[in-house]
Amino acid sequence: MSKRRILVTSALPYANGELHLGYMLETIQTDIWVRFQKMMGNECHYVCADDAHGTPIMLKADEMGIEPETLIEQVKIRHQADLNDFYIDFSQFHSTHSEENREISELIYNRLNDSGYIKKRVISQAFDPEKEMFLPDRYIKGECPKCGADDQYGDNCEVCSATYSTTEIKNARSVISGATPIEKDSEHYFFDLPQFEQELKNWTKAGHLQEQVSNKLEEWFEQGLQQWDISRDKPYFGFKIPETEDKYFYVWLDAPIGYMASFKKLCDNSELNFEDFFNKDSDTELYHFIGKDIVYFHALFWPATLMGSNFRTPNAVFAHGFLSVNGEKMSKSRGTFINARTYLENLDPECLRYYYAYKLTAKIDDIDLNLQDFKKRVNSDLVGKVINIASRSASFVVKKYDKQLSANCIEKSLYDEFFEAGSDIAKHYEARNFSQAMRLIMKLADKANKYIDEKKPWQLAKIEGKEQEVHEITSLAINLFKVLMTYLKPVLPVMARRSEEFLNVDSLKWSDIQHPLTNHKINKFKPLMTRIEDDQIEQMVESSKA
Ligand code: MSP
Ligand code: ZN
Repeated sequence: MSKRRILVTSALPYANGELHLGYMLETIQTDIWVRFQKMMGNECHYVCADDAHGTPIMLKADEMGIEPETLIEQVKIRHQADLNDFYIDFSQFHSTHSEENREISELIYNRLNDSGYIKKRVISQAFDPEKEMFLPDRYIKGECPKCGADDQYGDNCEVCSATYSTTEIKNARSVISGATPIEKDSEHYFFDLPQFEQELKNWTKAGHLQEQVSNKLEEWFEQGLQQWDISRDKPYFGFKIPETEDKYFYVWLDAPIGYMASFKKLCDNSELNFEDFFNKDSDTELYHFIGKDIVYFHALFWPATLMGSNFRTPNAVFAHGFLSVNGEKMSKSRGTFINARTYLENLDPECLRYYYAYKLTAKIDDIDLNLQDFKKRVNSDLVGKVINIASRSASFVVKKYDKQLSANCIEKSLYDEFFEAGSDIAKHYEARNFSQAMRLIMKLADKANKYIDEKKPWQLAKIEGKEQEVHEITSLAINLFKVLMTYLKPVLPVMARRSEEFLNVDSLKWSDIQHPLTNHKINKFKPLMTRIEDDQIEQMVESSKA
């Protein structure tokens, strides 16, 4: 099979807050898939960026008394440090507030406009007369028109669950200034989504989406597609719309274009050719990993934007579910709203990578991080099963056989079974059924341990004349460990690197596992990972309490 050329993205995190374990679910899922593709010998680029525009970022900078440019620069440094420390291996991490993104956003807008997909019309919206800005719904509070509860948001009531429009709310006030909002007219620019209805219907049925997602889309098509408001009035932190004085692209217009911009930046600093990946007739593959809350943007607006501006569309959008902690929505008061940094200060990133892999499927069901189960699972699978195979065998080979693996592979059929399982494991990785892949790997680990338990090399070692057998048993165990670590490498890149050192091999490669290592010198075994202790988890939860 010829080498595939693949471009992969994770959704762009907003540049006004810290990353949390929910977002890490997304980047860990993506990173595992990307590392797997590379191990298969495919060309795979992974780009991402901070999503730097919009009202919340503008207001946050305002509140801090700094320029938005300063805020997003500071946040980007912290985001990148967090992602790096979780071993997320981007080819490029950029920002939507970049020249590349401005250029491509303008290009796309101009193409859409020239083709008649941009419509203008005047709409009336809530306006803060003191702050002199239009107010998005979440910046208006007041009394619920239904039950009268105070301090409710502009569009829905948390007490009685009523939904309504901002004009219905009683004693409305601006969250920003406290002023009473007035209604004000302004001309807005709309992307004419309904023109793409047929093309989108075909696209969503052509295998680019998960079943649960395309069912959701059916509902949206039934409700009817609406024109999409892509402009915002000043003051706004974003890109000015060409040929306007004071109108800006809505953040969600230029955010997905940020995928292209980040890749453009990568191309500018390498041999890669942007057009190869984004031209309409491209034979490369494009995949977006996202959370289920932003499907509308990625499965409707985004492909339509690309269709209308004559670029290729994605091969697939891969949505995942939401992370809960201990069975509930992440909560600051319970200490379960855990920032990436707080986790890193207490625990090993690879433990979380493994636990997420163990839980992730190709479906969009939510995923629970139960902290007790997390501890048990990691300790039992990684420390108790996988590492145990190496740690209990290494000392024999190192001390008794001068670090040299045996010349002969005993029980070749057991080794072959491990090797042959690789094709199913690879299929599960490819299909994002990491959960299934991990289960198969742990089944093999159980087999390896059972083999050692049955052979009891520690007893045989006491019997004269059994030296060769002990050598061959422990050498086989180390070879089985090598196969397992190769399979786990996309999930556990650092443990894999330590194992490479121990095994004295350049790099654990999928293409190398067909034959066991024989007559090969290994190195002394050093612990690859330590057990998770309760106090690490307690400390993390304590530090996360608001
Ligand atoms: N900036 C937009 C995405 C633009 S992509 C062109 C955005 N940002 S976000 O910071 O709110 O979310 C980034 C990603 O993290 C989204 O895919 C979102 O679904 C995901 N998650 C946010 N909270 C999450 C959980 N609790 N669990 C799993 N994923 C979560 O949306
Ligand atoms: Zn109410």
